[in-house]
Amino acid sequence: MFPQADQSSDTYEDCKATADWLLAQSAVRPSVGIVCGSGLGGLAAALKDQVAFDYKDVPNFPQSTVHGHAGRLVFGTLRGRSCVCMQGRFHLYEGYSVQKVTLPMRIFKLLGVDTVILTNAAGALNQDFKVGDIMILKDHINLPGLSGNHPLVGLNDERFGVRFPCMSDAYERELQQLALDVGQELGFGDFLKEGVYSVLGGPSFETVAESRMLAKLGADAVGMSTVHEVTVARHCGMRVFALSLITNRAVMDYDSPEKANHEEVLVVAKQRAEQVERLICTMVARMERRHNNNDDDDHDDHHDD
Ligand code: HPA
Repeated sequence: MFPQADQSSDTYEDCKATADWLLAQSAVRPSVGIVCGSGLGGLAAALKDQVAFDYKDVPNFPQSTVHGHAGRLVFGTLRGRSCVCMQGRFHLYEGYSVQKVTLPMRIFKLLGVDTVILTNAAGALNQDFKVGDIMILKDHINLPGLSGNHPLVGLNDERFGVRFPCMSDAYERELQQLALDVGQELGFGDFLKEGVYSVLGGPSFETVAESRMLAKLGADAVGMSTVHEVTVARHCGMRVFALSLITNRAVMDYDSPEKANHEEVLVVAKQRAEQVERLICTMVARMERRHNNNDDDDHDDHHDD
């Protein structure tokens, strides 16, 4: 059954009830939350000592309706660090309100998560980008948000965050640098890029005029996710890292024979998934070392990337 749009937002107590329900069933106390984009859910398999929940069994949770999104919340340890991983996310085009799309971020926060890592599949607007590139997000353009479909619209609950949160520092610089450093070490330098991600509501891919407009506005890539979650994660004080896997080039020319389609997105995601996973696993390992200031972990880095 297709889910109905739900315009009501979950209260702090609703989010707390979900977090407490999860904490009662799993001994893992995650400090890192990971959201896997289309075709990139394989990362969850890297988690050790897993405890997994189907979204349909988690109180207040929406359900994934998109091919390529498994719909499971997986707790476990990644390189010794406690994590929770969403294998599949929610999108506006599924009919969910932007508040429901972002609900998992507030649950992450109440589970004890301090760092959120998000991945997505995206179309390239930047002419220098190639299919298969990995783009580290340095900023975003929230077109639905700018026109009123913003996850923080409505009464503000100060227990989550302030009424007017800053977004000029949405993406943690230190984590972007860590991704660049790790990417270089793993030999990913040729296909690791940085850029601005622009979110649209979807589900149709962009017209030529829309893609040209987004490129003129300063966007390097376009997709249908991530920005809403980043906004809510920042509102409640978690630090954020996000990357886009470039699965196609947005069509910018009326004579182009190319046509964006979801099958191509999944094929490219499958081809690059292993590298995306290695990048994130190694970053998580390094983040832990930075947190604990424990250089003894150094030798660990290269075996199970
Ligand atoms: N546009 C929007 N979303 C996308 C695209 C695209 O070209 N590719 C993958 N997700």
